[in-house]
Amino acid sequence: MLSPTQIAAELIEQRQTLLPKRLLPPGPDEGQTALIVGAAAAAPDHARLLPWRFVRVPQAARAALADAFEQALVLRDPLALAAQREQAREKAFRAPLLLLAVVRLAGGEDPPTAFDEAREVPDAERIVSAGCAIQNMLLMATAMDFGSSLTSGKALQSAPLRKLFGLGPHEQALCFVNVGTPGQRKPGRVRPTPAQYLTTLEPPAA
Ligand SMILES: Cc1cc2nc3c(=O)[nH]c(=O)nc-3n(C[C@H](O)[C@H](O)[C@H](O)COP(=O)(O)O)c2cc1C
Repeated sequence: MLSPTQIAAELIEQRQTLLPKRLLPPGPDEGQTALIVGAAAAAPDHARLLPWRFVRVPQAARAALADAFEQALVLRDPLALAAQREQAREKAFRAPLLLLAVVRLAGGEDPPTAFDEAREVPDAERIVSAGCAIQNMLLMATAMDFGSSLTSGKALQSAPLRKLFGLGPHEQALCFVNVGTPGQRKPGRVRPTPAQYLTTLEPPAA
């Protein structure tokens, strides 16, 4: 039997990006989706602001998302060819479970929080909290043998997408969270080693 440490290490190691084109139906059912979304709630959250939210995009809303992707492309490139527009649209239809991750940046609390302006939880902390929530969801999806990925792109900051998702003035779309049945697994990537990202602070010389 695996120890909790072994289970955690295996789960973390097993998670890998499987892009939406490799994520097939069936996606998580309602119970599985509730577990995946519920995992986000365990993220660290300074001052318990809940500075992030997720918007699920069901199949019935995918055509509207495709419209927003296409409009975003045309705004960036009015001369976009029909094939490029179709490519932009197609991205809306891929992952069986598709969620948009949204963060509420500093200044967006209504009514303002007990924190005074000078002590307001800064954007970086809010985005870190959102990242922790997202990783919890990815790990939960991995534990259920689903493939998953995050996707971003220029359309995320576009007016058509902001309008479709009803983003407030202090909200920012971070990325899409994609989940589905893995079509074809990739070989695991070589991960960086702690030597590449860990140093130890030397006490100052006396
Ligand atoms: C916020 C965020 C957005 C991302 N957006 C994309 C994307 O648009 N396209 C893509 O191929 N990968 C995207 N990625 C995934 C990274 O490319 C991927 O995590 C990285 O290559 C490491 O691979 P791994 O997740 O399998 O370890 C994104 C990752 C993050 C954290």
